[in-house]
Amino acid sequence: MKLQTVVLNVVAVVASAGMCTTSLTAQKPADIHFDAASKVFRIDAGDMTYAFGVNNVDELQPVYWGQQLSRTDKFPPTLTKPEAASFDSSTTTTPNEYAGWGGGLYVEPALKVSYPDGNRDLVLHYVSHTIKGDELTITLKDIERNLFVELHYKVDPETGIIGRSAVIMNKTSAPVTIKEAAAATWSLPRGTDYSLRYLAGRWAGEWNLEKQAIRPGETVLESKRGSTGHQNNPWFAIERGEHPDEESGDVWFGALAWSGSWRITVEQDQLQQIRVTGGFNPFDFSYKLLPGKELATPVFYGGYSHHGVGEASRLLHRFELTKIVPQAPDPRPRPVLYNSWEATGFDVNQAGQEALAEKAASIGVERFVMDDGWFGQRKNDHAGLGDWYVNPQKFPNGLKPLIDKVHSLGMDFGLWVEPEMVNPDSDLYRKHPDWVLNFTGRPRTEGRNQLVLNLARKDVRDYVYGFLDNLLSHNQISFLKWDYNRNWSEPGWPAVAPDEQQAVYVDYTRNLYSILRELRAKYPHLEIESCSGGGGRVDLGILGLTDEVWPSDNTDPFDRLRIQDGFTYAYSPGVMMAWVTDSPSWMNNRSTSLEYRFLSSMQGSLGVGANLNKWTPEEFETAKRLITAYKQVRETVQHGSLYRLVSPRDGSEISVTESVALNKNQAVLFTFLHSSQMGYPFPRVYMRGLDPKADYRVTSIAASMAKGSPTVASGSYWMGHGVDVNLRGDFQAAAFRFDDVSAANSSH
Ligand code: GLA
Repeated sequence: MKLQTVVLNVVAVVASAGMCTTSLTAQKPADIHFDAASKVFRIDAGDMTYAFGVNNVDELQPVYWGQQLSRTDKFPPTLTKPEAASFDSSTTTTPNEYAGWGGGLYVEPALKVSYPDGNRDLVLHYVSHTIKGDELTITLKDIERNLFVELHYKVDPETGIIGRSAVIMNKTSAPVTIKEAAAATWSLPRGTDYSLRYLAGRWAGEWNLEKQAIRPGETVLESKRGSTGHQNNPWFAIERGEHPDEESGDVWFGALAWSGSWRITVEQDQLQQIRVTGGFNPFDFSYKLLPGKELATPVFYGGYSHHGVGEASRLLHRFELTKIVPQAPDPRPRPVLYNSWEATGFDVNQAGQEALAEKAASIGVERFVMDDGWFGQRKNDHAGLGDWYVNPQKFPNGLKPLIDKVHSLGMDFGLWVEPEMVNPDSDLYRKHPDWVLNFTGRPRTEGRNQLVLNLARKDVRDYVYGFLDNLLSHNQISFLKWDYNRNWSEPGWPAVAPDEQQAVYVDYTRNLYSILRELRAKYPHLEIESCSGGGGRVDLGILGLTDEVWPSDNTDPFDRLRIQDGFTYAYSPGVMMAWVTDSPSWMNNRSTSLEYRFLSSMQGSLGVGANLNKWTPEEFETAKRLITAYKQVRETVQHGSLYRLVSPRDGSEISVTESVALNKNQAVLFTFLHSSQMGYPFPRVYMRGLDPKADYRVTSIAASMAKGSPTVASGSYWMGHGVDVNLRGDFQAAAFRFDDVSAANSSH
């Protein structure tokens, strides 16, 4: 790393430190308006305006998406763009909110269908609309046939994020086959200076933030795997301009709420117009819609920030916590949990778990979670999945004695399950070999010695719901870690007709959602974590039904800095579980201090996954001290505003995050030094988002500020003068809490 780069970055942060950012707490109502004269719909919410019109040929044509305009600004009637040449018809040059494939369309369609008579042409025209509160619904119809599409726009007044989805309705008298169905197309103003950020990775290496210029053609982000996937996450952000940065510039962002195969295409068309289309992945997709039936797409959320990608993330975080997660709008902070996986692997039993539980309780853990290995004939990953009875050798008296013990220690109890999978070596598979995804007579490819149950089948869905219901009704379980450790292969569904089998891409995910929804309704205090070999199933769909996610199986605290940095572009630290595990890390064989590991994990929702049987008394003391300190700041870390002050990416030698409480009465600063070089001091850190007039008292959570630093200073001091951190060496970390001590005597 070049120190100079860091200094320059920090200077850039200072330059914008005084700039005002969107107030996330100011609640303005959303305004949805249709101007009958111009036939333009206009949505104002948060700090943005979104507009589109019914154009001269009755198609829905985007007009504007960006910074909020004056209420007196009027849009003229919307006109189609002309044919660009005989090669580019007006249909293809005119942006469209939701284009059917037909009439000479060459850009990405939102919807593509085929009829039994061979017709595949679809041209959707505006029919009518309704506006109810924060929701706009528009009905479109094909120019000839009774194929209707209802477009939904649900607007969040606070963040200005719009949730868009479509319902495709077959009112013809014959079946219609849907070949492609997107939730929405988002259109950006024409331009050639856009860049795209997206998240890419693999197992144990998720959440790499990628950035590339948007050039003519298409970039495809997708999963063909049956679930969300580690490789791409269904999130994007598009920045405009030569030098957009964390805190300034126009950013358009979006996230798809779907946990099955998905696709987002980012396209610069032949007229340099930008379109982002997202929904079901059309790869291997087909959905037969009988007369009178309909298909609803997932929701594709989109938002706009005028203050850089940092503000875009804060808007998304706020939206997730107040509108998406099951406990929205006021989720309770994530309890500090202990998980036994890295300590014991599959080797769980009553005495061993009880011993760990006692140690976990002694450091302030609030939730004890037993991981894989407690059920069926599960000694390793070769057997047992599917047989959800408690293993009688490991737990001769069932789970009750362990759960009672955990409760007596003042913690609640959580359990690992992987409900959608089966090992061929299981009673379930021996009894129901037809329950897995498969093509008749073809091999069944295993992953981690397991196959995927076809949850689209009603009998499989009922079995999965049934065993979970049984487990939860007989045991006091507060939390499920819901795992999913492979992707699909041979996704056949031989029990239904060949032209209905590809509905598996829709029905599987919907049944997963319905199981989660029903369990939550029946067990209102149950909390659930979505895990898929780490971060393979994280999206706004699953987050609507789960309370937290496991971002990665990679628990190396240094790698985690980058993983967590990438994660927070799209998702809130309030749902991001982060465990402190053993050193050296299994992943990289890297040794770090316990304090460093804690500080890395304390930037999210803290957990401990170390083997407590090996800890020294000093380590217990350190853990106790830091868990106590974490509880004093967790509301700010999990639900406050996150500022990524210095990124750990691109070989940076340091990284810094700051979280500020929504009412600004507390802030927490985490600073990390990878490796000191040439004796330079740690670069000065300029805080953001504080109340400039308030006085903040600083308390060290770990390590110290440079000698002579004040203990109380104004917000403008910490932001303008900055913080000098006393860190030298390799893999060092410091953290500070800032409390507004003037709050009691003033009105700000
Ligand atoms: C997955 C999870 C791990 C652990 C194991 C158990 O890999 O991501 O955290 O639960 O399964 O088999």
